[in-house]
Amino acid sequence: MSAIRPAAVVVLAAGEGTRMKSATPKVLHEICGRSLVGHVLAAARELNPHELVVVVGHAREKVTEHLAGIDPRVRTAVQDQQNGTGHAVRMALEELGGTVDGTVVVVCGDTPLLSGGTLQALASTHHADGNAVTVLTAEVPDATGYGRIVRDDASGAVTAIVEHKDASKSQRAIREINSGVFAFDGQLLADALGKVRTDNSQGEEYLTDVLGILREAGHRVGASVAGDHHEIAGINNRVQLAQARRILNDRLLERAMLAGVTVVDPATTWVDVTVSFEQDVLVHPGTQLQGSTHLGEGAEVGPNSRLADTHVGAGARVDNTVADRAHIGPQASVGPFAYLRPGTRLGPKSKVGTYVETKNASIGEGTKVPHLSYVGDATIGDHSNIGAASVFVNYDGQDKHHTTIGSHCRTGSDNMFVAPVTVGDGAYTAAGSVITKDVPPGSLAVARGQQRNIEGWVARKRPGSAAAKAAEAASRQGGGEA
Ligand code: UD1
Ligand code: MG
Repeated sequence: MSAIRPAAVVVLAAGEGTRMKSATPKVLHEICGRSLVGHVLAAARELNPHELVVVVGHAREKVTEHLAGIDPRVRTAVQDQQNGTGHAVRMALEELGGTVDGTVVVVCGDTPLLSGGTLQALASTHHADGNAVTVLTAEVPDATGYGRIVRDDASGAVTAIVEHKDASKSQRAIREINSGVFAFDGQLLADALGKVRTDNSQGEEYLTDVLGILREAGHRVGASVAGDHHEIAGINNRVQLAQARRILNDRLLERAMLAGVTVVDPATTWVDVTVSFEQDVLVHPGTQLQGSTHLGEGAEVGPNSRLADTHVGAGARVDNTVADRAHIGPQASVGPFAYLRPGTRLGPKSKVGTYVETKNASIGEGTKVPHLSYVGDATIGDHSNIGAASVFVNYDGQDKHHTTIGSHCRTGSDNMFVAPVTVGDGAYTAAGSVITKDVPPGSLAVARGQQRNIEGWVARKRPGSAAAKAAEAASRQGGGEA
């Protein structure tokens, strides 16, 4: 298929979307990590148009700000009052200086499943057939609410689009519907829009009327039928939002599976469009992969994990974990039940085990933090072991401070590293220590109260108790041995 470069793509996104029942404008609702209008823009960009214009109206500040964030080259046209799709396209043409030479493609901002390939097929048909307008249509199981495609009985040529509300009984029986996506000759579109009237049931300027106007003026009118009717589904409420998310998620998982990823349970695995995988990744049930998350070759993730903008190295194992902006090195082991917060960097073959939280922490190759610990604002070298239930005490109530632990260290269980503090290479610390002073390389730091045994205390203070009896029995048996 030769690439036809349109002069402009116009995205209609001025409507409120009342049926969403939301403070958020409809086109800003998200599926698979991208707004509805963001999906449409991504498909539109595949056409490589000279201009990309979004018609905004309802909550236009919010929508405009969002658009600038995802694609700074997008232009916006303001439609103050939603007087219909024809009026909306007129506003877009005004933004482009009145008329446009070449092809103008019009799409709606609420059809997130529309693919760039389908748009390209529409543009190609439009060109190849030399049409003044080509409408993208689809056969749908239930056409309620859609504009119907009326064709000439004899030739099969498209003669008109009739809105549901304006359709006769026999027209309502038609299952081929208007997707709301068109390719137009820019000059003819501008002329025809000037002739669109508002004498319909909604008192609006219908873009669909352009088709009849052009046909009556003797121009070629054509249709391109979408292969998959799901692609053209417009989102009007949150039920449809969930259905579209399911369909897109299935598509993304199928693509991943065909590329060599094992997905144990596609029904409970959710991925964003921006997630990437290498071969032989294994994803267990209940896993959500978000943003720029990347899973390296042979990595195994889940069950019940949520990874956002996280890099998982080859062969790493991530189990029952929440991670946000973390970098997990190759063959590292994480979880079960770990929480990796932003700025976590785990070296190759390192381990962050059960009930461990990390933040802004760099953990070296082969280093282990196996149990019940908090590692915040820290650098730990290679091949060290952090004892269970240790806390990197990084916050003095006002500022955060850094802890550095060297390579080949063995720190005891239940240590507090009161930052800023440094433990040198090869050093040990005793269990239960509160480390407030730097530990030189190779030393043992002991920082805890001395143990004192007060003999006979139980017999004196708890006479006759079970404890006292047990102690007495023990001293009879053991005598003065110990
Ligand atoms: C429209 C079509 C219908 C088609 C259906 C496909 C018309 C007259 N009807 O109907 O044939 O089957 O889409 O989903 O075109 N919009 C504006 N400004 C307006 C009105 C609408 O920007 O003044 C935008 C909306 O935000 C939306 C799109 O245009 O993104 C479609 O509008 P909507 O009201 O949903 O039209 P439908 O009644 O669904
Ligand atoms: Mg609609």
